[in-house]
Amino acid sequence: MSRSQPLPPESSPVTDRYAVIGNPIAHSRSPLIHTAFARQTGQNLSYETLLAPLTEFPATVRRFQAEGGRGVNVTVPFKEAAWQMADELSPRARLAQAANTLVFTGTGIFADNTDGVGLIADLRQNLDFPLARKRILLMGAGGAARGVIGALLAEQPLLLVVANRTVSRALALQHHFAPYGIVEACDYAALRGVPFDCVINATAASLTGAALALPDTLFAPGSLAYDMMYGDRATPFLQFAQQHGAAHCADGLGMLVEQAAVAFRLWRQVQPQTQPVIGQLRVAAHE
Ligand code: ATR
Repeated sequence: MSRSQPLPPESSPVTDRYAVIGNPIAHSRSPLIHTAFARQTGQNLSYETLLAPLTEFPATVRRFQAEGGRGVNVTVPFKEAAWQMADELSPRARLAQAANTLVFTGTGIFADNTDGVGLIADLRQNLDFPLARKRILLMGAGGAARGVIGALLAEQPLLLVVANRTVSRALALQHHFAPYGIVEACDYAALRGVPFDCVINATAASLTGAALALPDTLFAPGSLAYDMMYGDRATPFLQFAQQHGAAHCADGLGMLVEQAAVAFRLWRQVQPQTQPVIGQLRVAAHE
């Protein structure tokens, strides 16, 4: 007598669950983005927001994992905590000491950081602004800056300056990234008279609407001003850039969609198209 395996019961396909965890989280656009990617690529998944109390990030992740979640995106202020709780790190998450994407694997939690590649994809593909041999200024020395320095260095710019209000934090980044390339650290006053081709704001100043104390000589002809923040109106930094000679200005919406696309591919092994989703979000922002 031959033995046969019992047939699986008939059921509808299981919907895989994903989420973004942050605090605050209500205004996150990640659910819109991932839902649009899923529709576009025919993936059966749901994507929700999870508000984690400030001291309960690991517990929130574990609970979602235990409920059958497949992975999460992580946003402010938990990217460092996400890196700390991972069982396995991608090289870029290890370098950034921060993670924005977790994958729940059979053996634990794999962490990646897709912010740097998201920024580069936006600059290259959406803004047609390659960075090779460009003079780049990155402003800020917190987690947002640390998350993109490795990817900026990999583009082989002519110069990468990291400027910060608290110069010791910029110096710490210079030291941390020294094995990967030359980073010059300074404060904002030292920037007077030095022109850049690309000026990227990775400070949290735009979150509070604060203006940075910048010299008006920052922008070389043809230069791009890029704010990693996004919102319905130009940030104080982008307004300053428009008034002081930047040829192009961009907010971080494209980066947000591009980093999400890399996370989506990691989870689902399919590549979504980003440009239609960026367009959709821009239209929604002006409605
Ligand atoms: P994140 O993870 O978002 O980078 P963070 O680690 O708290 O957050 O870092 C915030 C960054 O924004 C820092 O570079 C901070 O400068 P300091 O290191 O001098 O604090 C910068 N920042 C925040 N508000 C600022 C302001 N009003 N002017 C200038 N820099 C500001």
